[in-house]
Amino acid sequence: MSSTEVVRSNDYVVQPVSNVLGAEVIGLDVSEPLDVGTLAVIGQAFIDHHLLVFRDQSLSDEAQVAFSKQFGQLEAFPEADKTKSAIEIYNVANVSPKGEQFDINDHRAIYQKVNARFHTDSSYRTIPSLASIMYGIEVLPDNAQGGETEFSNMFLAYDALSEQIKARLEPLHMVHYYEFGRRLYPELPPVSIEERRMVPPVTHPVIRVHPDRNNRRSLFITTNAGNEIGGMTLEEGQALHAELAEHVAQPQFCHRHRWQRGDLVMWDNRCLLHRAIDYDMAAHRRVLRRTTVAGAGPISGPFSAES
Ligand code: OGA
Ligand code: MN
Repeated sequence: MSSTEVVRSNDYVVQPVSNVLGAEVIGLDVSEPLDVGTLAVIGQAFIDHHLLVFRDQSLSDEAQVAFSKQFGQLEAFPEADKTKSAIEIYNVANVSPKGEQFDINDHRAIYQKVNARFHTDSSYRTIPSLASIMYGIEVLPDNAQGGETEFSNMFLAYDALSEQIKARLEPLHMVHYYEFGRRLYPELPPVSIEERRMVPPVTHPVIRVHPDRNNRRSLFITTNAGNEIGGMTLEEGQALHAELAEHVAQPQFCHRHRWQRGDLVMWDNRCLLHRAIDYDMAAHRRVLRRTTVAGAGPISGPFSAES
């Protein structure tokens, strides 16, 4: 940086946005690399709050990619038509990269609806994602209904289960597969052979153990990328899954983020689920841009955690 460029102030504050998860970071410009001290503070705040909202940002695609890479390697998306300018940039929008609003029957609009069910990003991969980072470019007006992203805290959801259900879940794995989202919306074109090959069904423990948090446990499920439990009959697995899906949606675990333009929201996919709240896609434009930090390795379950 030359000495004539703007010097950023590090006078930022981190303040919780709810009792269950999330904090906002005000006064920090993340368009330039964070210094080592700031990165450490932000890293710790991320562990403590699971979700950070950096307000009032102004970020190009490249700046968002550069910010995201400070937290790890980025994922590339399995489907090129959902990306924008680079394979690491995912266009979460009812508007094309060129700026035309999709017809509500356009596949790219319908595809957004898969996100309306609680999930964690990339759980359909053998190595699920660590964090997603989403930037608000066009957001709904304040008086419009919906359009928020809702998050649910899987530490709290796990803690609230009865001892009996915890014991029942202990040895279970869930089947996660990318194609499941398509089955929810049969009007969507089928997943191609290459996509299916790239992201075949995988299983993960239903209880996730977090080695970097004293082996604390959380639930690890999805409701948009599967509903089967390995080793159970389809009916039994689906019944248990439906119970868990209802459990995680309870408001005492949840926080809704109402988007403001310029928000950069970074959330921990290891311990939160999220979903998009429905909005009138014909009436409103909503343009968010996502990057995704890859996980460090396969997830730990109760039997794989180091004591
Ligand atoms: C996503 C997602 C939620 C939203 O892009 O992964 O779940 O509110 N988006 O659009
Ligand atoms: Mn998502």
